[in-house]
Amino acid sequence: MELAERLSALTGGALGNVFYASDGASAVEIALKMSFHYWRNTGLPAKREFVCLRHGYHGETVGALAVTDVEVFRDAYDPLIRRAHVVMAPDARQAAPGESAAEVAARALAELETLLRERAGQIAALIVEPLVQGAAGMAMYDPSYLDGARALCDRYRIHLIADEIAVGCGRTGTFFAWEQSRAGEAPLPAHLWPDFLCLSKGISGGYLPLSLVLSRPEIQRAFVADELARSFLHSHSYTGNPLACRAALATLDLFAQDNVLARNRERAHWLADGMAALAADARLRHVRQRGLIWAADVRDDVAGADFAARFHHAARARELLVRPIGNTLYVMPPYVFDAAQARWLGGQLLATLDDVTTDVTTTREARHAA
Ligand SMILES: Cc1ncc(COP(=O)(O)O)c(C=O)c1O
Repeated sequence: MELAERLSALTGGALGNVFYASDGASAVEIALKMSFHYWRNTGLPAKREFVCLRHGYHGETVGALAVTDVEVFRDAYDPLIRRAHVVMAPDARQAAPGESAAEVAARALAELETLLRERAGQIAALIVEPLVQGAAGMAMYDPSYLDGARALCDRYRIHLIADEIAVGCGRTGTFFAWEQSRAGEAPLPAHLWPDFLCLSKGISGGYLPLSLVLSRPEIQRAFVADELARSFLHSHSYTGNPLACRAALATLDLFAQDNVLARNRERAHWLADGMAALAADARLRHVRQRGLIWAADVRDDVAGADFAARFHHAARARELLVRPIGNTLYVMPPYVFDAAQARWLGGQLLATLDDVTTDVTTTREARHAA
């Protein structure tokens, strides 16, 4: 209860209800089921389809896989899955020459609107990873996409589910990544929050298994009934586990006492400085950072085959645990490093890149020439 109240207060009361589970995929299942069930309880049972973004990742249970567009996790189980509609992601890397990230977001919104115009009567919800699509290769996008998605979901009566399992809890610079919509207007007016917001991972500091779904009070009201079939039916053995909730409360205490958000802004500068030499390297493209997520793509012509595995092993020899996604090199450091450690990290990553890329001399010469 205390945890629910404190989380709800962080949304200014806009998301006033909390439903607990123990892992990320379960939180996604809850949001999907609750959305569908809400529409059924309010007389719109045909709304049972979902929309997700290209290359989005929302977990690996059967329901979550339906809204996950990552072939390696989904394909083996495809016969079991009711696939969602997949629409263009706003990934800024898709920009044509001269096109801005906001223009890419506008293109993605136009595609979303085309689908909603046709099928809104059958669609329950759109699910997105706000600002950064993790498994897609730390694909970052313009926050205007969030504003546009909110407006379209309102216009077509579709729920909006923000999956902040990876990007929540201060990772992107604000406690909830969603707070960066509306150009970071604070406090964000109640009607501009998503309808559901899923959290996990960072909420217990990563120590104990806990996940939760925040939602609007009006959604909960649709479930208040004596009739069992109208109630929200979902439970797990460890739902709302008291020890995990206590860890989450301790996490929130630390955010308040140590001013974690302000200190993370400073750490984000240290991270950018530490990565500066790497960012200037001619072997990398699409260098990007959002809060405490830094990523860049190693050019195909220098990465060679099996880049991710080779980089991972070479990095271990240099006391680094990093796990590239394809050719995307990224770091999401815990909120405990200082400027010197950020410089060390950048230096070790650059040295590892030298270890594993082909033709280091030429690229180093090109770097110096540039
Ligand atoms: C955005 C996102 N959604 C859902 C999940 C699934 O969480 P879990 O692995 O706890 O089921 C993850 C896990 O990495 C995630 O990053």
